[in-house]
Amino acid sequence: MAIEHSGGPAGASGASAISIKGLLKRYKAAGREDILALDRTDIELAEGEFVALVGPSGCGKSTLLKILAGIQPPSEGEALIKGERLTGPRPDVGVVLQSPVLFPWRTILKNVMLPVDVLRLDKRRYRSVALELLKLVQLEGFEGRYPRELSGGMQQRVAIARSLINDPSLLLMDEPFGALDAMTRERMNAELQRIWMERRKTVLLITHSIPEAVFLADRVLVMSPRPGRIIEDIRVDLERPRPMSIMGSADFARYVGHLRGLLHAEGGIDG
Ligand SMILES: Nc1ncnc2c1ncn2[C@@H]1O[C@H](COP(=O)(O)OP(=O)(O)OP(=O)(O)O)[C@@H](O)[C@H]1O
Ligand SMILES: [Mg+2]
Repeated sequence: MAIEHSGGPAGASGASAISIKGLLKRYKAAGREDILALDRTDIELAEGEFVALVGPSGCGKSTLLKILAGIQPPSEGEALIKGERLTGPRPDVGVVLQSPVLFPWRTILKNVMLPVDVLRLDKRRYRSVALELLKLVQLEGFEGRYPRELSGGMQQRVAIARSLINDPSLLLMDEPFGALDAMTRERMNAELQRIWMERRKTVLLITHSIPEAVFLADRVLVMSPRPGRIIEDIRVDLERPRPMSIMGSADFARYVGHLRGLLHAEGGIDG
């Protein structure tokens, strides 16, 4: 099996769900030198694609995700979602940030229901969806608890449930499984693959785990150390649905080995 560069997005419709052109982000700090976090980055994701983004710590991955989430403006270049310029967070984009942002005064159920309140959707209808999602992330019974009563990994799972509540067509996830134990992480990987296959969402997943990227993604984008640029775009040609056992296959190992080699040459990553 030859490892192939993807040559860009694939997708039945060919329409771009995400289109980033010449994106540059500079953080300014008074009295200190500016930090160039992203340097003229280009990325295209077709509708329905599952793309993983890997790269060394501090290379600008979260910066990129926050720009796409409409939380931060770029300094230069453009970021389009479904052909539209970003003006702020969008209701059709579910976001999981690297550190879960939960409201301490809201119960777990109410945290998951937040988008329903913000978007003024039918509370009664979505309450049962929220309870289903809490079950999916194995937090049944914690509905009435508060974030402070949950571990970091549990809070992360609340944020995952929240990102799915209104069935967004696009998901942006920044290390969503970073604080989970290996078993829970594998289970969540399988669930995410299932949700993606059933609902055909477009997913951009940032991860430090190369096996996770290969297991889940159609394409793996590799970023250079800061200032981040995409240096490789690898198509993962493994059949779906991918069973857990695929991680033991020779093809899987070749993808992982290839990506590890690239990242070690670029300054290291775990996993
Ligand atoms: N709000 C901010 N103000 C100033 N500098 C920032 C800010 N956020 C990020 N940076 C800087 O931008 C660079 C990229 O940060 P970013 O969080 O995007 O990296 P990352 O690739 O997500 O890293 P990690 O894998 O560790 O999460 C870093 O040098 C960081 O110090
Ligand atoms: Mg980050």
